[in-house]
Amino acid sequence: MRSRIAVLASGGGSNLQAILDHFDRLGERRGGDVVLVASDRSNAGALERASRRGVMATVHSTAKRADTPGLGDILEQHAIDLVVLAGYLKLIPPEVVARYAGRILNVHPSLLPAFGGPGMYGQRVHHAVIDAGVRVSGVTVHSVDEVYDHGQIIAQWPVPVFPSDDAGTLAARVLRVEHLFFPRVVDAIASGRTIFNTPAAPAHAIIDARPAFTLLSHEDSRLAENIELALGC
Ligand code: GRF
Repeated sequence: MRSRIAVLASGGGSNLQAILDHFDRLGERRGGDVVLVASDRSNAGALERASRRGVMATVHSTAKRADTPGLGDILEQHAIDLVVLAGYLKLIPPEVVARYAGRILNVHPSLLPAFGGPGMYGQRVHHAVIDAGVRVSGVTVHSVDEVYDHGQIIAQWPVPVFPSDDAGTLAARVLRVEHLFFPRVVDAIASGRTIFNTPAAPAHAIIDARPAFTLLSHEDSRLAENIELALGC
């Protein structure tokens, strides 16, 4: 059975679009269906993308108000199995984190735990990466808890930072990887091929993409060769 997925987004929703497009391509092989898109902002582009696809789009209040359904109520009404944060800027209320433990994931445009936390969103992340002079940034998909960008890391993919980069060029390179990477991680989790955040989960339950992106062979002679090549020795 396919997972019922809710995507939460505060902004334009290009990652939502990437998930919808990837699921379309997978057809019957997809692990889940996006049945709900929810936003804290009524003008979020993600809502329009959802409506265009015939996916239910809703705005929820983040303040506790008796007269308006909160996020937890909405997720429950739609029998959501998996919550996917794609550019969602608010913290998830503790009761929702508890209810969906291990079933909420987020994408972040850096290699966490570096360049994450409160205030680290959008171009700020990429400015900080460039200011720090790091050579490699990337994309992280992690489990969500009550703290910004803090939950268990599920999967990461590196993205090079070039000397000529500014925050804009780096953001574009990272976003391109997000669009390829995030939908595939979402599908792996939605389909149950990968589980996470359960105490009993075996080590292989966490997606380990390292072998795929390792540029250097583990064999020492090849490693030395590669280092020499990189350093121009
Ligand atoms: C992405 O860079 C994502 O990593 C971050 O917010 C941005 C959302 O972009 N969490 P979009 O709304 O999906 O275009």
